[in-house]
Amino acid sequence: MKAWQIVSDGGVDALNLADVATPEPGPGEVRVKIAASSINFRDLMTIKDPKARNLPYPRIPNSDGAGTITAVGAGVTKLKVGDRVASCFFQDWPAGPCSVDVMNSALGGALDGVLAEEVVLKAGGVIPVPAHFSLEQAATLPCAALTAWHALAEVAAVKAGETVLLLGTGGVSIFALQFAKIMGARVILTSSSDEKLERARAMGADETVNYRSTPDWQDAVLDLTGGVGADTTVEVGGAGTLARSIAATRVGGSIGLIGVLTGGEINPTLIMRKSLKVQGIYVGSSKMFADMNAAISLHRLEPVIDQTFAFDDAKSAYRAMEAAGHFGKIVITA
Ligand SMILES: NC(=O)c1ccc[n+]([C@@H]2O[C@H](COP(=O)([O-])OP(=O)(O)OC[C@H]3O[C@@H](n4cnc5c(N)ncnc54)[C@H](OP(=O)(O)O)[C@@H]3O)[C@@H](O)[C@H]2O)c1
Repeated sequence: MKAWQIVSDGGVDALNLADVATPEPGPGEVRVKIAASSINFRDLMTIKDPKARNLPYPRIPNSDGAGTITAVGAGVTKLKVGDRVASCFFQDWPAGPCSVDVMNSALGGALDGVLAEEVVLKAGGVIPVPAHFSLEQAATLPCAALTAWHALAEVAAVKAGETVLLLGTGGVSIFALQFAKIMGARVILTSSSDEKLERARAMGADETVNYRSTPDWQDAVLDLTGGVGADTTVEVGGAGTLARSIAATRVGGSIGLIGVLTGGEINPTLIMRKSLKVQGIYVGSSKMFADMNAAISLHRLEPVIDQTFAFDDAKSAYRAMEAAGHFGKIVITA
């Protein structure tokens, strides 16, 4: 079978499509025929800079996959051949708080990922796919969607009528838009593109701000909230946007610290003065994934897939993410 591998620090161009043995599931494991894999900014960063993450070579990239179980190992009772499942980003985070052991079980990082025709995963490291989803749609859920869910449902516990601030229109933020709307929140969303802002409004974003034409977008958010600020901010920008996100979040509000898209320096004083809750978020547990899928199924949400690439053309998918023209998710199909 075929698998894409990171074999050097040569970036996307150096990704290697290898012929490897089809893996056999051991006790407590299942083998999944991958139908689709979605990519995340983190996968691109991992391919571009595997040394910073101490990756051994070869390493199969990507955390997010969905497919059909083709074999079950000894002791697996709750899953069977033919079940449609998605991978859990962390193979070892059933529930509860994050830990070092959890972090050592990340697909496409500490462990081989899912950009292969077949993969072996822990039985507890897969989740049934929402019934109304295609496998291509299900492949969008493990990282971006779950991170957005964790920020809004677990950390912020958003209440109807609250204001949620979202940055950009990538995978995490577009899922966050969908979740915030089913939670009854008012959404303010920023983007570099007026066209993307229009698409976000069509999906339910209540107010939008172009962060390129309005570089002081935090002031626009304050204007839109009567000078108060958003109750919750889903921070995907990182150090380069955090100061503005802090300014745009209300006193006593919360910021889910998620992204590393931009660099810069942070002055923590305002976090203290505004009594903000700033919580680092690292994807989420299998329990959170199951809770999220229940909400997705109830509301029949559909992920936004911007572009789909064939398995053999995986390099083009990463290049598309690098170009940042996408809205929502980029998917590679088998
Ligand atoms: N901690 C975690 O568990 C976790 C999980 C998932 C993702 N992440 C991180 O979250 C970030 C987003 O991930 P993703 O997969 O959603 O990436 P993505 O799909 O590539 O989305 C990136 C989008 O962010 C927007 N953006 C870029 N620079 C911005 C800026 N200065 N201000 C506001 N928005 C900006 C752009 O939107 P426009 O084109 O609309 O301007 C861009 O399309 C990445 O840093 C990723 O590593 C972390």
